[in-house]
Amino acid sequence: MTTANKILERAFSTRRSPHASDGAEDDGGDDESKTRKHISVAMRVTNYLTRTGYLWPILLIGLIIVIITSVTIHSRDLVCISASSSDHISRLRFFGFDGQESDFGSLGVPWCRSKHGKNVEWTSNDLLKGLEEFVPIYETRPIKNNVYGMGFDHSFGLWFITRWLKPDLMIESGAFKGHSTWVLRQAMPDTPIVSLSPRHPEKYLKKGPAYVDGNCTYFAGKDFVDFGSMDWARVMRKHGIKDRSRVLVFFDDHQNELKRLKQALKAGFKHLVFEDNYDTGTGDHYSFRQICDQFYITGGGHSCFKDSDEARMRFRRKKFWEKAVDIQELCGPGEAWWGVRGHMRDDFNHSNKAITYAEHFQNSRFVESVLDVYWELPPVAGPSLTHQTRYDPARAPSPIVEDGKYSLFRRLGLSQLEASVFNGYTQMVYLQVSEPVT
Ligand SMILES: C[S@@+](CC[C@H](N)C(=O)[O-])C[C@H]1O[C@@H](n2cnc3c(N)ncnc32)[C@H](O)[C@@H]1O
Repeated sequence: MTTANKILERAFSTRRSPHASDGAEDDGGDDESKTRKHISVAMRVTNYLTRTGYLWPILLIGLIIVIITSVTIHSRDLVCISASSSDHISRLRFFGFDGQESDFGSLGVPWCRSKHGKNVEWTSNDLLKGLEEFVPIYETRPIKNNVYGMGFDHSFGLWFITRWLKPDLMIESGAFKGHSTWVLRQAMPDTPIVSLSPRHPEKYLKKGPAYVDGNCTYFAGKDFVDFGSMDWARVMRKHGIKDRSRVLVFFDDHQNELKRLKQALKAGFKHLVFEDNYDTGTGDHYSFRQICDQFYITGGGHSCFKDSDEARMRFRRKKFWEKAVDIQELCGPGEAWWGVRGHMRDDFNHSNKAITYAEHFQNSRFVESVLDVYWELPPVAGPSLTHQTRYDPARAPSPIVEDGKYSLFRRLGLSQLEASVFNGYTQMVYLQVSEPVT
């Protein structure tokens, strides 16, 4: 029975009160006398109100108060949700997926078109099997706290892709404390690594955990050479590499990805992994996601019209996901939405060049002309499982372990990991490239 009904019921039974206390008379003792006293007061009030004609107006006012109270309580829930962006449960309920379904991809998931529509060989089942194997490996990582470096999702992605491709040489650009070097080593225990990073990972050892690999040639510290300036012919000779399609290059150096793609093509490399494939309107460098986010791609292109559905949806989601952007951040002068407000960022945003939509469009056509495969790693699991609060699911493909599949999440050992390791997902991408057909 609702509160309003109960109050009405009480009011009506009070009017019938001379006979309504039948059961109460059987109770006996002090309680009975209290009840009787109470009824007689109520009776007296009712009789007075009936005589003066105030009974119905008071009942009506009571009903209005009940309705207002229930609306207030309900709306307090909503206020609570928008006031506390860290309230994960509220976030999930607000978007309608309390553990069963989610809204992955509802704002579009752009992708880069490849030359012949080729796809990767691995399936979602392979990814699941890979997860089962990788979780215990990840638990043994030497650098537990890898803030500013890769978290779980991308560590898994790099390990999985590397193990699948089985390269003869692994090149890494951007080592930081050496976590990604360690991941490459787990995937290929005996394969040489070449690592380029301005600061040698051994420097971090003075302050805490870091990883320095015994079978890695470091171009770091005073020996640092940027990927674009390296004499790759000499490096390949030194490692006995005759076929450069047997090399995997991993970029986590926050450089313009179009620049890195052109350098990799020039050097003859074919298998490339980019760690931070930032979404449109985010990040400190120009990424493939941004380049390929075009109107002719399903899920691509943007409206900077402030009354559009997209603008409303983005505004709402910005309050809940740290990496979600609204059109204020996405759109620049002249409704420029490509890159970050129309900028092509490079080198951790130290270089920041405005480009026109025509240039941006040409960049996407160039990327398409060299792409054989484009594959974005999905997030490992939905946010109701990982409790991640950063990436917006509306801009991501469906996760490997979907929301609601808690027993699978637990069986894979993912529930043992701290929530913070799931906060670094930025659409890691694997590209297979070749020179454009002329
Ligand atoms: C995000 S961190 C890399 C994280 C690392 N891959 C991991 O998983 O922990 C970026 C690294 O790129 C390095 N870096 C900066 N400029 C670079 C460049 N031009 N070439 C290679 N690395 C660069 C930085 O010093 C930093 O160590």
